Amino acid sequence: MARRAERLNPSTIREILKITERPGILSLAGGLPSADGFPIVEIVEATARVLRDKPREALQYAASEGFGPLRDWVAQALCSQGLQADASRVLITTGSQQGLDLVGKLLIDPGSRVAVEQPTYLGALQAFAPYEPEFLALDGDDDGPLPQALAGARGARFVYLLPNFQNPSGRCVSAARRLELVEAASAAGLPIVEDNPYGELWFDAPPPPPLSASAGDNAVYLGSFSKVLAPGLRLGYMLAPQALFPKLLQAKQAADLHTPGFNQRVVYEVIKEGFLQQHVPTIRARYRAQRDAMQAALLQHLPPGCRWQVPAGGMFFWLQLPDALDATALLPRAVEAGMAYVPGEPFYAGGGHRNTLRLSFVTVAPDGITRGVAALGQVLRTALEVGQAR
Ligand SMILES: Cc1ncc(COP(=O)(O)O)c(C=O)c1O
Repeated sequence: MARRAERLNPSTIREILKITERPGILSLAGGLPSADGFPIVEIVEATARVLRDKPREALQYAASEGFGPLRDWVAQALCSQGLQADASRVLITTGSQQGLDLVGKLLIDPGSRVAVEQPTYLGALQAFAPYEPEFLALDGDDDGPLPQALAGARGARFVYLLPNFQNPSGRCVSAARRLELVEAASAAGLPIVEDNPYGELWFDAPPPPPLSASAGDNAVYLGSFSKVLAPGLRLGYMLAPQALFPKLLQAKQAADLHTPGFNQRVVYEVIKEGFLQQHVPTIRARYRAQRDAMQAALLQHLPPGCRWQVPAGGMFFWLQLPDALDATALLPRAVEAGMAYVPGEPFYAGGGHRNTLRLSFVTVAPDGITRGVAALGQVLRTALEVGQAR
């Protein structure tokens, strides 16, 4: 096997998801969007229209860039968020996860540095790792990475940033910090890779404009239909600077020729008349109620010494347990008690932080959330009582 195969690690989350498929386990682990929010009727109708009106085109090989009308739609949606987007720089990807892989393929040489938040999206660490970077973990606070940390990352190939309701921590970076980060990245000659699958899932107020709105050509932006429609469609998109676009397209061609044209046409058919404007608010309302249910359950059931912030959007709570507790070691006990979470350690490029864990509040309905958190609280209390050390 090639050297890069050694860098391919099993996804902790996928391994946990296997356990949690057992009946009776309340899984607060996987970041699976609520299936109750999938617009099934609209997708059935759109599929029928596509197959009736353009069956041959929809089932044929298609352009690597993506389906033209969908690229136009994405460009317009990004412009309304303040980005200077034109369709010629939009690439439709097979999920935004593919966008991360393409970024790695184009920008990382073995031994080159890539700056990441701590914690950061585990799937991005997995996507980048086979290209053999050295990860540089940026210091941060409750408002995200520190701008001065970017100065120390000068020479890195890029900085990977998730300003909106980050997976896993749920935090949203303030408008002021965003501007500081853009300026610091520019001063350090550091391209930004901005990943934004959760920006639409806000509960109280929309987040500030993306970093890419003020970073100009210094940013690659990634978006996704997974959290606003359905992840099984595997549709994401990238907005890349002109200078990068041709190589990105070639990397995409080498990977899979193109994103399924059939899915692109179906999604375009669903969204072209403004469907998301009525649909996304229903997801927000559902997730807000579930966030509130989890917050109430955490307050009621977790032992003293546990800390967390209430997320203002997205899908996750991020817990800091008392130092003596090891979330990785405690997971089997939680599963025995009927619930599952994701231990925090794999979200750190440098490991450690074993007293952290991630809970999703979107997959399970409120009564299940309450029972799951109650079970977790019991496991943590018992561990503290018997002095379960690291
Ligand atoms: C931060 C982040 N980026 C990218 C992805 C990949 O999303 P998809 O490939 O479904 O678009 C996820 C999925 O959970 C994510 O949390």
